Amino acid sequence: MNLLEEQQLTDLEQMIGLSRRRFIGAGALCGAAMFLGGNLLSRSALAAGVSTASSTLLGFESINAATSDTLSLPPGYRASVLISWGQPLHVNGPAFDPSGNGSAEAQEVQFGDNNDGMSLFAFPGDPNRALLAINNEYTNYRYLFPHGGQPTSAEDVRKAQASEGVSVIEVQRKGNGWQFVQDSPFNRRIHGNTPIRLSGPAEGHALLRTQADINGNRVLGTFQNCANGKTPWGTYLTCEENFTDCFGSSDPKQTFDPAQKRYGAVATSKDINWHLHDPRFDLALNPNELNRHGWVVEIDPFDPQSVPVKRTALGRFKHENAALAQTRDGRAVVYMGDDERGEFIYKFISRDTIDHQNTKANRDLLDHGTLYVARFDAGDNHPDRPKGQGQWIELSHGQNGIDASKGFASQADVLIHARLAASVVNATRMDRPEWIVVSPKDGQVYCTLTNNAKRGEDGQPVGGPNPREKNVYGQILRWKTHNDDHGANSFDWDLFVVAGNPVVHAKQPKGGSANITPQNMFNSPDGLGFDDAGRLWILTDGDYSNSGDFAGMGNNQMLCADPDSGEIRRFMVGPIGCEVTGISFSPDQKTLFVGIQHPGENGGSTFPEHTPNGKPRSSVMAISRDDGGIVGA
Ligand code: FEO
Ligand code: CA
Ligand code: CA
Repeated sequence: MNLLEEQQLTDLEQMIGLSRRRFIGAGALCGAAMFLGGNLLSRSALAAGVSTASSTLLGFESINAATSDTLSLPPGYRASVLISWGQPLHVNGPAFDPSGNGSAEAQEVQFGDNNDGMSLFAFPGDPNRALLAINNEYTNYRYLFPHGGQPTSAEDVRKAQASEGVSVIEVQRKGNGWQFVQDSPFNRRIHGNTPIRLSGPAEGHALLRTQADINGNRVLGTFQNCANGKTPWGTYLTCEENFTDCFGSSDPKQTFDPAQKRYGAVATSKDINWHLHDPRFDLALNPNELNRHGWVVEIDPFDPQSVPVKRTALGRFKHENAALAQTRDGRAVVYMGDDERGEFIYKFISRDTIDHQNTKANRDLLDHGTLYVARFDAGDNHPDRPKGQGQWIELSHGQNGIDASKGFASQADVLIHARLAASVVNATRMDRPEWIVVSPKDGQVYCTLTNNAKRGEDGQPVGGPNPREKNVYGQILRWKTHNDDHGANSFDWDLFVVAGNPVVHAKQPKGGSANITPQNMFNSPDGLGFDDAGRLWILTDGDYSNSGDFAGMGNNQMLCADPDSGEIRRFMVGPIGCEVTGISFSPDQKTLFVGIQHPGENGGSTFPEHTPNGKPRSSVMAISRDDGGIVGA
C-alpha cells in the first residue's frame, strides 16, 4: 500500500472506529477495502490465493516496529531470560566474567556465545522436563576478549573455539515458566575442539586425512553451527555453516584449486584469524582440514558421553539447517539449504526406513541414502506471486553426468564437493537459502531466501523463485511435493511472501507482496518454525538501520503467519543490533523459546541485564502469556 492508501486507511479507521492493529488484522479489512478501489483490494486480498477472512490462528495484536534496546511483545505476553552467554553449565562452574578475562578452559564449560538454532527434547513421560540442544554459532571478539580485537594468542583462539559449537542444557517447568537446571548431569558442551567421528560414504577418503588423523575418520570440533534439525529418533542435528571463514594461510601467495575456491578458501581469513595461532586452520600446512567441516553433525542429547558424528552422506556445503520429513514408505527425508549467494537447496532420502519402535536401530540411518538438489522451473511469473514446478535431481556418482569426466572419482568426491556436483546438473541458484521447515498440517515445505545483492549478476538470472534483481528484502518460498510424498521427485512451488517496504516503495518489485503492509513489514527472513497448531513463525536477520529501503522496519524481529490466509503479524521486536534466531516450544505450547543473537554487535546495547556499562549477552528467552495460554493463539 502506498502512502496515499495508508492515509485513506487511517481515515477509514477513524470513520469506522477501529484501531490500526485490529483493523489490519481484521476481517473488516476486506469489506472496508472495497471502498478504496482495486489497488488496495489487491493488497488486502493477501498472498496464497486463499481466504481473505481474518485468521483464526493468530490471536494476538500485531505490534509496532521498534528501535529500543528491549524486547517488545504484544499485550498479555512476558519474557524472561532462560540462559545467557557465559553462564556456567554446572554447579560451582566458573562464573561469567564480563571483563572478558575468563579463560578458554572456563568457556569450555560455560554456555556458548551467539546462540542460534535449537531443539527441545522432552523427557519420556515427563512433559515438565526437557533437554534443549542449542547451537552457538560464532563469537564477538569485541566482547569475548578484554582487548576487544582479533585473537593475539593460542589461548585466545582456543577460547573462541570454545565459545562455538553446541550447548546441551536441561530445562524444567517451574510454576508457569521454564528454568535452566544447573546441576543436571545432561548439561554438556560440544565445541571447536571436541572429538567427533566422521562417518558415511566419505569416511576415510584421502581428502579427509590429515597428519593428525591418518585414517580420516576422527575430527576435532564443530564450529560456526548455524541452525538445526531434530530427528524422529530423538537425536539433534547441528549444521556447520560458515566454516571456511575460520581458515587462512600463512602463505599469502597460496593459490587454491577450483573446489577450494568454490567453498570460499582465501589466504586471509575473514577476520576470524584462527590460523595465526592454531596451525590446524592454516591451509598452507593443513589443506585437508577444510574438508573435514561443512557437514551435518548428529548428537544424542540424552547420552552426555556419546561422540557426535559428522554424517557425510548429507553432503558438504554451508549448511543452514536440516528439516526432517518422511516418505510415504517410511524413509527419512532431510531438507537442507546452502546459505551463500547463488547456492542450492538439497534433500537427502535415507536408504532404510525409520524404526519408530526401536529408536537405537536408527543410529546409522543417515549414513546410507541418496542426495538430491532442487531445480525450480519458472511457470507463472506473476510479479506478486510467481509459481511453477520443480524437480529433485539425483547427485549420485555415475548419474546425470556426474562422473570422472567432470572430476568425480567416487560418491565420496560428490559429497565432499556437493556444490560442484550440483552445478553439473544445473540446479537453480537461489537467493541464499536459510531455514527450511515442514508444515505439521499439510506437509508443505517453507524455505527462507534471505536476500541476494548479486541477483542479476554473476550468472544468476532473475526469475522463478528468485524474482528480483539485487534482492535486498528476501522472500519465503514454499513447495508441495507431488502425491503428498516427500519421496516424490517433483513438486509445485510458489512464494508465500515477498518481503518489501510498501511505505518507501509503492509497488512491486520492492513494495512486497500482498500480505506485506506498513504494519508488518520486515526484511531478510531467516529463521522459521512451526508450532503444533501450524502457525508459521518468521525470524529476521536483516538490515536494522531503520533508514532508506529499511525505513520503518526497526530492529530485527519475529513475526507469525497463518499459512492458509497468508496473514502475517509482528509478534516480537528484539533489542539493538541483534538477530532473532533459534526457536522451540515447550511440549504444552505455552512457552516459546527464542534466541537473541549478538545484541549490540556494533555497540549500543546492554541487553538483557542493562547494568551500567554492562556487556550485551546473547541469550535464549522464554516467552509466555500472562494468562498461561498457548503462545500465539
Ligand atoms: Fe547462520 Fe545463514 O545463517
Ligand atoms: Ca541464519
Ligand atoms: Ca542470515
